[in-house]
Amino acid sequence: MEIPLLDLKKQYLSIKNELDVAVKKVIESQYFILSPEVENLEKELALYCGVSHAAGVASGTDALILALRALGVGKGDVVITTPFTFFATSEAISILGAKPLFVDIEQATYNIDPDKLEEVIKRSDPSKRNAYKAIIPVHLYGQCANMERIMGIAKRYNLRVVEDCAQAIGAEYNGKKAGSFGETGCFSFFPSKNLNAFGDGGMVVSNGIDIVKRIKKLRVHGSQELYIHEEIGYNSRLDSLQAAIVRVKLKHLDGWLERRREIASKYNKAFSKIGIKIPEVGKGNKHTYHQYTIAIDERDEFVEYMADKKISVRVYYPVPLHLQPCYKDLNYSIGSFPVAEHASEKVVSLPVYPELTDEQVAYIIDSVKDFLK
Ligand SMILES: Cc1ncc(COP(=O)(O)O)c(C=O)c1O
Repeated sequence: MEIPLLDLKKQYLSIKNELDVAVKKVIESQYFILSPEVENLEKELALYCGVSHAAGVASGTDALILALRALGVGKGDVVITTPFTFFATSEAISILGAKPLFVDIEQATYNIDPDKLEEVIKRSDPSKRNAYKAIIPVHLYGQCANMERIMGIAKRYNLRVVEDCAQAIGAEYNGKKAGSFGETGCFSFFPSKNLNAFGDGGMVVSNGIDIVKRIKKLRVHGSQELYIHEEIGYNSRLDSLQAAIVRVKLKHLDGWLERRREIASKYNKAFSKIGIKIPEVGKGNKHTYHQYTIAIDERDEFVEYMADKKISVRVYYPVPLHLQPCYKDLNYSIGSFPVAEHASEKVVSLPVYPELTDEQVAYIIDSVKDFLK
């Protein structure tokens, strides 16, 4: 049996009619950029996340860049984040001329460790602390970071919070949705994400009307009035076709997330006593299993073994950000963040997409168990 890491064709076929109608409607309208489709998706996603405003942008990366910029982050500033995430998180900081300051993760959840976060801020030179502008907690693999602690720390040290929700649409922490805690929540509609487009796309959600207004200006070349440019901006618009597609998929999202949880619970049951680390759900969290990530000592042999079984698995992420070649000048080294480094050597994600059949899930379970025999 061959099992890919993700099967987008299956997802498409399951809602083909709705998607085809939505795409055709946009084509017939010939309204491709920032149309009512985009405005409607902004309203629907804000409502879904429990916030009042949203702005569609061209990607999840741009969502982070525009959100940071709208909050005033720029050259010489410091933004605190995790070293164990996709590169776009810190890239957004660096691209604005700010400096990422990494803080190690919790071993249990792989999210930023609030104790270490507070320690790093406390230990910092008070004369340099006013450069510290924001924290980007990343809700990795589909579960929220400890937002109660992070928001408390942000308040104490007057830091803005930009949530990186690229992997966590629909995740909840203490009953509130990812993206509704900080000044902004940033989403990606990249095709592999739980809510995805037929290409790139992103969204910033916020309760701050002024932040969203600024993002809406930045995404169209810093302009509010045609051909008048108040500031240097970007071309970072969400297009109508992608918005129409995401609107259709949003209606199915909660059902898809439920199926992901169902598959994860089958995996949890099967793997709880066989010597691997299964995903730990943090207190107050409702996980969405964007990834079902295990940690296993013989990780590299396991990846090869699963390839022989024709099951696609993937390591997210094999090199933590502080060890990336482009960040040499930040002067981190091996040993700077032992928990993130250990995770990058041990983790591997299994297929967990909602379209997996029970038969496929059973085959994956049997294969993992066979490897550990
Ligand atoms: C944690 C995280 N942040 C940011 C991004 C960037 O999103 P995009 O690929 O839409 O630019 C991604 C996904 O690719 C991600 O996983």
